[in-house]
Amino acid sequence: MKAFAWFAWGLSLWLGAAWPAHAQAPGVPLDVLHWWTSASERRAADQLSAQLATAGVLWKDAAIPGGGGMAAVKVLKSRVLLGDPPDVAQLIGTTLTEWADMGLVMPLNAVAQRQRWSQVLFPTVLDLVTYKGDVIAAPLGIQRINTLLYNRKLFARLGLTPPRSWGQFELIARKLQVQGVRPLVWSDEPWQMATVFETVLLGEAGPTLYRELIVQRKSSAWMDPRVERALQRLRWLRTLSGDNPQEKAWTDGARELMNDSAGMMIMGDWAKGELMAWGASPTKDFGCVVVPGTEGMHLYSVDTLAMLVSARQREATQEKMAEVVVSPTAQLAYNRIKGAVPVRRDVDVSSLDGCARDSWETFAAPRSARVPSLAHRMAADEAIKDAVAQTLWRFLTDTRMEPQEAQRRLAAVIRASGAER
Ligand code: GAL
Repeated sequence: MKAFAWFAWGLSLWLGAAWPAHAQAPGVPLDVLHWWTSASERRAADQLSAQLATAGVLWKDAAIPGGGGMAAVKVLKSRVLLGDPPDVAQLIGTTLTEWADMGLVMPLNAVAQRQRWSQVLFPTVLDLVTYKGDVIAAPLGIQRINTLLYNRKLFARLGLTPPRSWGQFELIARKLQVQGVRPLVWSDEPWQMATVFETVLLGEAGPTLYRELIVQRKSSAWMDPRVERALQRLRWLRTLSGDNPQEKAWTDGARELMNDSAGMMIMGDWAKGELMAWGASPTKDFGCVVVPGTEGMHLYSVDTLAMLVSARQREATQEKMAEVVVSPTAQLAYNRIKGAVPVRRDVDVSSLDGCARDSWETFAAPRSARVPSLAHRMAADEAIKDAVAQTLWRFLTDTRMEPQEAQRRLAAVIRASGAER
């Protein structure tokens, strides 16, 4: 054997010992910045990383804790400003297009074409990752924001059935309160308030007005009485958390549902993934329905990975990553853990849990209303989203503020953003 062959053979033995079984060979490492740090999020990311390793792509983790990506988005900005962008970032919705405008995002047209994304992805998803004719991110999963989780054991013990209307919800809340159980998980974190608000708003306003408010951003529409009703309901929902509502992580809220100290939770279906990661079963321990008034509607947030441009020249590996994460196998494995659903319309979702099947089928049905989340950056940029969330926070924490005053402030935020479309 020639010297080089000996060297290669020795190297392969060494690598065999040094790399985990799923990694066939060492690949090119990609620095991935994201905010998946809870149990289910971590597991879902690890699942992806294992799948990528078999394709020679190494996931170098740069996770920044903080629900809704509040901290991650800031860290990403500062890394880019310092000239040290990660290779891959969890950039979603409008943040993605802003970064693409600055020339920081690598187009993925070649991989999208090779993998026929225009045929296999849901059109709404493809639209979301297409900007000025370029495909600019690899979509991972669709989260359903208008999800109401409930504690099956408590409901069974008290003879309750999951609410289909706000009237039923109120009755259930009262019965839970009488039993000393907190009816609804609540957090004063602004992004969580915004998450609950947009689901209530969709139910009150319906998809047409919701789009005028959130997508077309007509400031005058914010004075509509249906917005007032949504704000009133939001205020009432907050009272259900007890005397002293607090800012708590969404995982702490999910824990209350898990340990029977709360009856219901309104949160994107990643909370379902979390309950499952803790060992809870969606058929025995908890269940899910849509937030009252949003039957047949899908308020979505789509997680996407963008490949950033850098001097490191890792385009081939970045393309490989995009190809793997959109593949049917990775889609099913990742979304099963994450609590989301595949972005592809050609996968068999029969092995997913009931909430996921309903989410995927609603998203797929031509007649459903698919509307984008504001709280999760699908409809407006970071600044508008933060200003809306901050206004909601002010309204909710200052109980003297009339809903109409909050409406005026929200309308002003939208008007000032100059984004009326
Ligand atoms: C969302 C994101 C989800 C989940 C959630 C909680 O913005 O789309 O994947 O991570 O935040 O942090």
